[in-house]
Amino acid sequence: MPTVLVTGASRGIGLEFVRQYAAEGWRVIAACRRPDAAKALAGVKGKVEIRGLDVTNEGEIDALAAALADDAIDVLINNAGILHRGDGLGRIDTAKWIETFRVNAIAPLLVAERLLPAVLRGDRKRIVSVTSQMGSIADNDSGGYYSYRTSKAALNMAMKSLSIDLKPRKVIVAVFHPGWVKTDMGGAGAAIEPSASVAGMRRKIGTLGDADSGGFFNYDGERLPW
Ligand SMILES: NC(=O)c1ccc[n+]([C@@H]2O[C@H](COP(=O)([O-])OP(=O)(O)OC[C@H]3O[C@@H](n4cnc5c(N)ncnc54)[C@H](OP(=O)(O)O)[C@@H]3O)[C@@H](O)[C@H]2O)c1
Repeated sequence: MPTVLVTGASRGIGLEFVRQYAAEGWRVIAACRRPDAAKALAGVKGKVEIRGLDVTNEGEIDALAAALADDAIDVLINNAGILHRGDGLGRIDTAKWIETFRVNAIAPLLVAERLLPAVLRGDRKRIVSVTSQMGSIADNDSGGYYSYRTSKAALNMAMKSLSIDLKPRKVIVAVFHPGWVKTDMGGAGAAIEPSASVAGMRRKIGTLGDADSGGFFNYDGERLPW
């Protein structure tokens, strides 16, 4: 069976990716920053290997890449993300903005760069990043959320460049908006369950073709405006 690696696998959308791929019999490398505290993850049945990874720690990314030196990853899912809510106009916090950029925009590219050899050894060669519609400039009609919106717009641009750079090596790169999802980040009042979001994204990930590389997709597979 194929192998998927998921970052931010301890809870929310990442945990649901682990559950669904494991239930289908995939080998799942579930990366999370505190394996000892990831109780829900430890309870997932199937071929799940839990690995420690704080995505902002380059040493940990390199250590994971070294541990996977003889391994193949068919689908790499950059899911880990943070949302700093308190940065409306007049409350811009430089440190929070930089932290958000490190987790949401820079780390996914570093993870993709360092794990690329394992992705190239995989049969499917897909790199997926969970972005947000809030990173769409075309869709922004409500303002605010400066650090989050800019970090996801930067992620989108990084992944677009990556899709072009990796085209000769037949790697498909895409970004997905998961919907407004009932997780710690999305809140209890969100529109959809993690199960529906992840089922939709997995369906599209499974059928991504060359023409989809560099695309920005909703969880239901529809294209979104940049
Ligand atoms: N929920 C929504 O409505 C929604 C909408 C649009 C986009 N998204 C995106 O979907 C992705 C998943 O969000 P979610 O709703 O599942 O959020 P969540 O419930 O808050 O979970 C966030 C996950 O990211 C991990 N994480 C945060 N910082 C990390 C770091 N430095 N290193 C490793 N892992 C880190 C967390 O790990 P810990 O448990 O260790 O904190 C947790 O597993 C994010 O990229 C988010 O921006 C979510």
